[in-house]
Amino acid sequence: MCGILCYLGKRPALPILLEGLRKLEYRGYDSSGVAIMEGGEVFCQKAVGKIQALEANLAGVTWQGSGGIAHTRWATHGRPSVENAHPQKDCREKIFIIHNGIIENHQSLKKQLLSLGHRFCSDTDTEVLAHLIEEHYQGDLEEAVKAALRLVEGAYGIGVICVDHPEEIVVARKGSPLILGIGEEEVFAASDVSALVSHTKEVIYLQDNDVAVLHASGYNISNLNYDSILRRTQQVEWDVEAAEKQGFPHFMLKEIYEQPEAVENAMRGRLIEQEGISKLGGLDGVHDEFLGMERLMIVSMGTSYYAALLGRYIIETCTDIPVEVDLASEFRYRKLNIREGTAVLAISQSGETADTLAAVQEAQRKGALVLGMVNVVGSSIARETDAGVYNHAGPEIGVASTKAFLSQLTILYLITLALARHQRMSLSEGQAFIAELKLIPDKIRRILDSASQIEAIARRYHGYKSFLYLGRKFNYPIALEGALKLKEISYIHAEGYAAGEMKHGPIALIDENFPSVCLAPRDSAYEKMVSNIQEVKARNGRVIAVGTEGDTDLQEICDEFIEVPATDEILLPLLMVVPLQLLAYYIARENGCEIDQPRNLAKAVTVE
Ligand code: AGP
Ligand code: GLU
Repeated sequence: MCGILCYLGKRPALPILLEGLRKLEYRGYDSSGVAIMEGGEVFCQKAVGKIQALEANLAGVTWQGSGGIAHTRWATHGRPSVENAHPQKDCREKIFIIHNGIIENHQSLKKQLLSLGHRFCSDTDTEVLAHLIEEHYQGDLEEAVKAALRLVEGAYGIGVICVDHPEEIVVARKGSPLILGIGEEEVFAASDVSALVSHTKEVIYLQDNDVAVLHASGYNISNLNYDSILRRTQQVEWDVEAAEKQGFPHFMLKEIYEQPEAVENAMRGRLIEQEGISKLGGLDGVHDEFLGMERLMIVSMGTSYYAALLGRYIIETCTDIPVEVDLASEFRYRKLNIREGTAVLAISQSGETADTLAAVQEAQRKGALVLGMVNVVGSSIARETDAGVYNHAGPEIGVASTKAFLSQLTILYLITLALARHQRMSLSEGQAFIAELKLIPDKIRRILDSASQIEAIARRYHGYKSFLYLGRKFNYPIALEGALKLKEISYIHAEGYAAGEMKHGPIALIDENFPSVCLAPRDSAYEKMVSNIQEVKARNGRVIAVGTEGDTDLQEICDEFIEVPATDEILLPLLMVVPLQLLAYYIARENGCEIDQPRNLAKAVTVE
């Protein structure tokens, strides 16, 4: 999820690698490390925190080796620490590996490796891979890496070196990006073109299951079965700044486009299709209390609060557990009455939101089981909760949350499935739920493919001063989130309402200058939504509707119609929110707003 850089050539590798790591800093990371091959040895240095800390540890170092690997880590397994930073190594300190992604079956592999006598010194999933390669190593590094990868489930971009092979680096990818950079008698591999674009513009985008063996003079690409593979070299035209955003003009747009993967990463390794259940490893330690909870309270702020509101609808729909949702900042002002059987779930992308942290502490004082759903591993909320689930959405840089929201929703579906299967949901219902959920990433891709239509709508509507967002049932929280996205990045006044509430006041505002964004998919609230749309139209209000693909009836009564693919109504929010993010983005862009860092806002609000 974070940054990888490998170099093999004629120049000293260390300065090149450090410079490249700085280019990867924008992605966010918690620790870093580097390993250099020199004179039949491998020298390794790591540090927690900024690259400067790594550089400070390297002060006075004169390694001249011209091959090495470097990494910025964004922890998924094991807190940020020097031991957990990459490179990770095997028992004999011969093999060094950097890794982006998640090894899903790391626990079972670790058990086997421990029984074979391997000794571990970190909590990472990555270290398992170092020992697995060691286990298969018989003098051929490529062979050992391939043998290990055949046993691995999960996502990886890796770079591997071995003291016995100072002229070679083996890299591989599956599910995590990896790009080769081809220079004059030197070759690079990086997770991101920004790390290598200042050295070469000639690149090869590796594909899933590619393994490349790098030498200073060139490279070979093959798959795990040794079929050799030809990949086209391409010229990158981007400068460093554009490369950081992978060609997108803003991080927010890049992150909107990363949402299919964010949903996949949230589900990765957590669904057992045969049994129609989800398995959330982070909750293993509190398994019985989690499944046996009698009441759930969810606390969070902003976008994470809207995720929580959806959580209430879906958990209550599928289980008998009553769910209360609070803005974390208001939690302490209530008489909480926490009894045995009460679980409190804190949802926070950053894991550092002061209001949410204070609610966690309050819940703990009252003796609740306190769970977390956090994107940033090792963050304060992750540390202070009794157990939790990580989002694995990767760093989110745009201040306006997008992919983290989709990830939060996905995990709420997984929590719902776990609880529901423990209660009244049948095996076949569980299996059907999983089957439908797995189709979501591709359906999001389809919505993203039609972004230009939303862009055109934004061009027609960016001049309006106020917007109303209306939704019902599962899409009520999505209306709130759509309005928040618009106001955050475009500074346009927008209000989200439950559609039924509209005629109890907000309707007074409606005229031809006050457009409404109406969420009206073909679900059980459809007819009522259509009536609300009619009410808006009757007052000369303009309507931008988001509805189900092919709904010509809806299209006819609205001014603008944005389609999303059909799915089970309970899963619709995962699709409905995407056009709203794009609409907010394009309106803000039309208005020339500072999209990634809107005024007055911070990515993590660490004051109450
Ligand atoms: C979302 O776009 C906002 N930046 C904000 O509302 C955010 O969701 C809120 O501050 C909560 O942050 P957290 O998830 O990191 O706790
Ligand atoms: N899963 C690995 C870890 O936690 C890699 C994290 C990353 O992609 O930076 O160490």
